[in-house]
Amino acid sequence: MITGGAGFIGSHVVRLFVNKYPSYRIINLDKLTYAGNLANLKDIEDKPNYVFVKADICDFEKMIELFSEYKIDGVIHLAAESHVDRSINDPFTFARTNVMGTLSLLQAAKLTWESLSEGYEGKRFYHISTDEVYGALDLTNPSGNKDGRGPYGHDFFKETTRYSPHSPYSASKASGFENFRKRTDKEKQAMFDTGAKSVIEKILPVVDNFERGLATVPEESKEDPFVDGMNRIYKQLMTELENIGVKPIEAVGQEFDPNLHNAVMQVESDEYESGVIAQELQKGYTYHDMVVRHSMVGVVQ
Ligand SMILES: NC(=O)c1ccc[n+]([C@@H]2O[C@H](COP(=O)([O-])OP(=O)(O)OC[C@H]3O[C@@H](n4cnc5c(N)ncnc54)[C@H](O)[C@@H]3O)[C@@H](O)[C@H]2O)c1
Repeated sequence: MITGGAGFIGSHVVRLFVNKYPSYRIINLDKLTYAGNLANLKDIEDKPNYVFVKADICDFEKMIELFSEYKIDGVIHLAAESHVDRSINDPFTFARTNVMGTLSLLQAAKLTWESLSEGYEGKRFYHISTDEVYGALDLTNPSGNKDGRGPYGHDFFKETTRYSPHSPYSASKASGFENFRKRTDKEKQAMFDTGAKSVIEKILPVVDNFERGLATVPEESKEDPFVDGMNRIYKQLMTELENIGVKPIEAVGQEFDPNLHNAVMQVESDEYESGVIAQELQKGYTYHDMVVRHSMVGVVQ
């Protein structure tokens, strides 16, 4: 699906795809605002692999419907309000189409693709942004040079250049893309954390066994080089776990918290008040802010 395919750039993209890939079905989705004109595509309108759909990208229900009707597996998203000067007079339309419209398409793609057995495999979503999001470079040579070259600057835009939108148009395009980027980063992190959590869960019983083994060493053997070596390896393991964000859950002396602790018995205590943890039977751990394993505790009656 190519959105904004009746516009200036989109019509060329649609024509290229329709002619170059006869085995692909190309859906041109366009609202036909003042900027869209189907006359741009007269030469391909009868091609068997071409379909035109008149719709507004902000119409989320319609987008969901189109994704499943045409089994869309790739999107090149060009539909936008794209004229800087108009954005100054009519910023609402720009925010609506470029931010909410982009979000509506992204959400339709996400929900549809996630519901398929193959998931995101083979799916693509290209969002066409604009150089305008980076603002303007400084004109370090405003009067040009003696060879007749006009005003120019020495700087270049780079991958690391920060956004600096100067108009409602560029701000809305930056926002549409930023929503997309933040969401993918968040999803990538969540996938990584889930994977890391399951590896950590498997390592914790090794830590437990280390602690049990070291706890059985009698006082007079603690200086033994073998025991000393084991102690160092245990500490190294704990340091590595801590460095990746694994932390033991505090238990004894703390108020019982069902989010962190699992109470397996009630105990008597002269030292602690009712509801406070007096005994830890198995250590619990968190990874970043997730509980990997609750600590198993005895709580004062
Ligand atoms: N033209 C440039 O120089 C340039 C430069 C950088 C980036 N871009 C980006 O490239 C893309 C295409 O630019 P263009 O110059 O072809 O734009 P254009 O204004 O000529 O075409 C935009 C198309 O989107 C359609 N459209 C607008 N709102 C819609 C909506 N709500 N739902 C469905 N369709 C809608 C319009 O009918 C039109 O056909 C835009 O995203 C623009 O921001 C353009």
